[in-house]
Amino acid sequence: MSENIKIKKVMFAFGTRPEAIKMAPLIKAFREEKNFKTSVCVSAQHREMLDQVLNIFDIKPDFDLNIMKPDQDLFDVTTKVLVGMKKVLNDYNPDIIFVHGDTTTTCACSLAAFYKKIKVAHIEAGLRTGNIYSPWPEEANRKITGVLANYHFAPTSTSENNLLRENINKENILVTGNTVIDALFLVLEKIEKSSSLKNRIIRTISNQYELTDDRKIILVTGHRRENFGHGFRNICNALKTIAENNPDFDIVYPVHFNPNVQKPVKEILSNCKNIHLIDPLSYECFIYLMSRAFFIITDSGGIQEEAPSLGKPVLVMRESSERPEAIQAGTVKLVGTDYLQIIEESQKLIDDKNQYNKMSKAYNPYGDGKASAKVLSFIKSIL
Ligand code: UD1
Ligand code: UDP
Repeated sequence: MSENIKIKKVMFAFGTRPEAIKMAPLIKAFREEKNFKTSVCVSAQHREMLDQVLNIFDIKPDFDLNIMKPDQDLFDVTTKVLVGMKKVLNDYNPDIIFVHGDTTTTCACSLAAFYKKIKVAHIEAGLRTGNIYSPWPEEANRKITGVLANYHFAPTSTSENNLLRENINKENILVTGNTVIDALFLVLEKIEKSSSLKNRIIRTISNQYELTDDRKIILVTGHRRENFGHGFRNICNALKTIAENNPDFDIVYPVHFNPNVQKPVKEILSNCKNIHLIDPLSYECFIYLMSRAFFIITDSGGIQEEAPSLGKPVLVMRESSERPEAIQAGTVKLVGTDYLQIIEESQKLIDDKNQYNKMSKAYNPYGDGKASAKVLSFIKSIL
C-alpha cells in the first residue's frame, strides 16, 4: 500500500559547468519518481558558468554553498566544500548522495558523505589515465571518489575494467553510457523542434561575433590546470598561426572565466582578425555552434564525448586521456600542447579531405542517451 512506501531522500551534489550538464538529465529522471524526494546541492565552485546550465535545465538548487571566489586554489575549494557540506548533511541527512566525475567538489562531497556514513553513488566512474598528475588534480579526485563510493556508474566497459582492476566489487558497478549523451540528445531535440529557439540561439551567438554561412568555424575551448603557463602560451601561439595561414576560417573561442586562462588568451589573441574571443556560451548555444563547426580544438573532457556523436573531428590538447574510446575509433586525436603539432594536425584537417572524412564519421562510444534511466532503475532496485 502506498502509505507504507518510505520516501527516500536522494541528493545530487555538484559545483561546475560540466557536472551540472551531466547531472541534469539524472535530476530530471529522479524528479519524475514519486518515491524519491530529490534535492540539489551546489557548491558553486563555478558561479556564472554553473548558473547558465541550471537556467537551461530549469534546476533550482535547494542548497547553495556559494563558495566561488576569483582565482581560488585547490585548498580553498576543498576546505570550503567540506565545511559547507558538513552543515548541509547535518541538517538534511539524505539516504544517498550522487556525485559526478572528477572535480574537487566531487572529491570533497564524497569525503563529507563518507564522514556522515551516507551512501555515495559515483556517476562517470572509472575513467583513468594512470598518471595522477594528468589531468591534475582530476585523476586523483576521481580515484579518491572511487574509494569512497558505494555504487559506481561507469560510462563504458573500459572504465568498468579499470574499476575491477582496483578490486571494486562487480555487483556495485553498472555500465550505463555517459549521461552527457542524454543531455546532448535532450538539447538537440529541443533545438530541432523549435525554430524560435534556433533563431534565439543564432541571435545570442551573433551578439558576440558575426555568425555567417560562408565561413568555416574552428571551435576552441581550453582550461586545464596542467596546461597553465607555458602550455597555454603554446596553444595561443599555435591558434594565431592557424588563423594567419587560413584567413577563410573563423576561430571561435568561448574563453573560460578562469583568470589563468583569460590572461594569456587575451594577451596573445585579442588582435587577430579572424579569431573571435567570446564569453562562455549557454549549453544550447554551444551545442548549436559545435554542430556548425568544421572541427574542434579543445582540452575539455565533455566536448571529447559530445563531438563524436555530431561527427566533428576533435584535436585534444592533452598529453594523455582518460577517454580512449573515441581516440581508438579515430574521431579524436591527442595533440598535446606542442605548438607545431597543433598547427600540423589542424592543417591536415583543413587541407586533406581523406583525413577529414576519416575523423568526421559520426560515432558514439559513450552511450545511447539512456544512461539516466539505467541509473534510476538500478537505484530503485537497491534503495
Ligand atoms: C574546474 C574543475 C575541472 C573542470 C572544470 C570545468 C577542479 C579542480 N577543476 O576547473 O576539473 O574540468 O572546472 O570547467 O575541480 N570562474 C569564474 N566564474 C565561473 C567559473 C570560474 O569567474 O563561473 C573563475 C574564478 O576565478 C575561479 C576560477 O575560474 O576561482 C577557477 O575555477 P575552478 O573551478 O577552481 O577551476 P576550473 O579551471 O574552472
Ligand atoms: N560548454 C558550454 N559552453 C561553452 C563551452 C563548453 O556549455 O562555452 C559545455 C560543453 O558542451 C561540455 C561542457 O561544457 O558539455 C564542458 O565543460 P568544460 O570544458 O568546462 O569541462 P570539462 O568537460 O573539461 O570537465
